[in-house]
Amino acid sequence: MKVLFIGDIVGRNARNYVQKKIKELKKQLKLDAIIINVENAAGGFGVTPAICDDFFHAGADVLTTGNHVWDKREIISYISKNDRLLRPLNMIKGTPGLGVIILEVDAGKIGVANIMTNLFMPPTDPVFETIPEILNSLKLKVNVDFSIVDVHGEASSEKMALGVALDGYVSAVVGTHTHVPTADHQILENGTAFITDVGMSGDYNSIIGMNKKDALNRFKFPDNKKSRLEVSSGEPTLCGVIIESDTNGLSKSINPLRLGGKLEQTLLH
Ligand SMILES: [Fe+2]
Ligand SMILES: [Fe+2]
Repeated sequence: MKVLFIGDIVGRNARNYVQKKIKELKKQLKLDAIIINVENAAGGFGVTPAICDDFFHAGADVLTTGNHVWDKREIISYISKNDRLLRPLNMIKGTPGLGVIILEVDAGKIGVANIMTNLFMPPTDPVFETIPEILNSLKLKVNVDFSIVDVHGEASSEKMALGVALDGYVSAVVGTHTHVPTADHQILENGTAFITDVGMSGDYNSIIGMNKKDALNRFKFPDNKKSRLEVSSGEPTLCGVIIESDTNGLSKSINPLRLGGKLEQTLLH
């Protein structure tokens, strides 16, 4: 199967750009499924029901999130009814929504899990304890043809360790949250595609998608809690990876996709 995973959508311009692009890419690249992390899609903080619906209408199959999932309160009732929007699996018991889903697409069954790491992140249950649940829920070539885990977290070492722990059991492990793409995309030893961070889809003429002046002031004057972060409104870059799996469900290739804005310009120079 051929699957596109797109990293954290930051704000309106990125939303509009990615929704337009995935309609074209689905046909052009003959994609079997599209998965998008939308935790910053609504003004940089959270996601709304209307935004989720727009992404589904544009062709997204599953949406993932992270620490910002509850920033817009209206998402709570939506996520309880719509299991194609995931929140991290290791949020405490009783949290609304699901952290794993199996979805039937034309080419077969895809399993998606969303987990959140522990280092430098808001408290959740220990992330490594999610592994048995993922392996029980998503069994390659038994109940899914393709499986992918969105590992949402800050520390690259912890994300790589999760990749290693899941190597050979899932088709792909992809990192999100830092908003900075890494260049370590690879097929791990036992056949799992991996990248430490896919990068955000947003304006890279910014500080991780937010207005440069506000974000800089936060670091220069950490006691000034008043400076509100606004989404940087320049031209967005879509950042994602395209993963192709083999007949055994493990991966043949993982390739980064960077379209539009600052990063595409840099690539073309
Ligand atoms: Fe994010
Ligand atoms: Fe995050």
